[in-house]
Amino acid sequence: LELDLINAIGAAATSAEVEAVRVAALGKTGTISGLLKGMGAMSPDERREKGPMINGLRDRVGAALAARKAELEAAELDARLLAERIDLTLPPAPRRRGSVHPTMQVMDEITALFAEMGFSVAEGPDIEDDFHNFTALNFPPKHPAREMHDTFFLRPDPETGERKVLRTHTSPVQVRTMRVTNDKPPASWIAAGREPPIRIIAPGRTFRKDSDATHTPMFHQVEGLVIDRDIHMGHLKWTLQTFVARFFEMDAIDARFRPHHFPFTEPSAEMDIRCDRSGGTLRLNAGDDWMEILGCGMVHPNVLRACGLDPSEWQGFAFGMGVDRLAMLKYGIPDLRPMFEGDTRWLAHYGFSP
Ligand code: PHE
Repeated sequence: LELDLINAIGAAATSAEVEAVRVAALGKTGTISGLLKGMGAMSPDERREKGPMINGLRDRVGAALAARKAELEAAELDARLLAERIDLTLPPAPRRRGSVHPTMQVMDEITALFAEMGFSVAEGPDIEDDFHNFTALNFPPKHPAREMHDTFFLRPDPETGERKVLRTHTSPVQVRTMRVTNDKPPASWIAAGREPPIRIIAPGRTFRKDSDATHTPMFHQVEGLVIDRDIHMGHLKWTLQTFVARFFEMDAIDARFRPHHFPFTEPSAEMDIRCDRSGGTLRLNAGDDWMEILGCGMVHPNVLRACGLDPSEWQGFAFGMGVDRLAMLKYGIPDLRPMFEGDTRWLAHYGFSP
């Protein structure tokens, strides 16, 4: 029996097989357990004679089982460590990185160019009140101009009935910049104006109910405002002509200022740049097409008054440009809508992905 068991233990190839041998010998109904139980029925003499042999057998088989089990477990562990080994010399899997969106890229470029000209950056909220978006900007009450802007209105406030809007342009930031107090309408709407000179740009998101190849319901503008003494159209033209030339990285850009109307500027103009759009590409200073890139004008006296500044002392000019439109021009993007669909293949196509 001992020889058979020792052979079986030696032949066991896994710790599970060792366990099977253990159960067969030392388990409840195992062969050695049977011999041990049998000792109870022996006479004292017989037990003295056979006892040491049976106990010795149990001890030796037990020891052999434990030794084989340890050996096999060690081998199994080695095999596992070998299989699971991590190769630290492998290069890591490439990680996908984000990149700057064309609109934000252009917004940063515009900001940097105006910063060089001494402008600082101002901000206002996306959710605006009627006063800042329209009234203070000289939109007459109930005037169709308010509807002209395809305004998104928020649900009226149940207590005050006030209807906030998603700002339709960045021009309300002009008002917020000029007015010292711009809290709690309407009593405190009588403001003291911030002491000029003022020289700011206001980049931000704007919203209108509009969607086609060159309009999206959410878009971006950069507003500009300069207030000082003796400011005139010449300052406006120089500033904007200098800006577009630097933006498009040219010595000069052929531009024209076409008379226009905005309630908050007088006179008002739109700035067009000359370009050739034939053949699917866009060339500046070529052809006889004129493309509108921004609205501008001299700040209307009513706006200055609404902001607490005396128009006989202070004058200024303002402008507002469509950032997404400028990004399309600079990077040759034909359709505005995919700009905000978040498809990284589109970004990669225009070189905005690493
Ligand atoms: N707010 C005007 C628009 O969104 C642009 C503009 C800004 C025009 C400042 C004149 C002065 O169309």
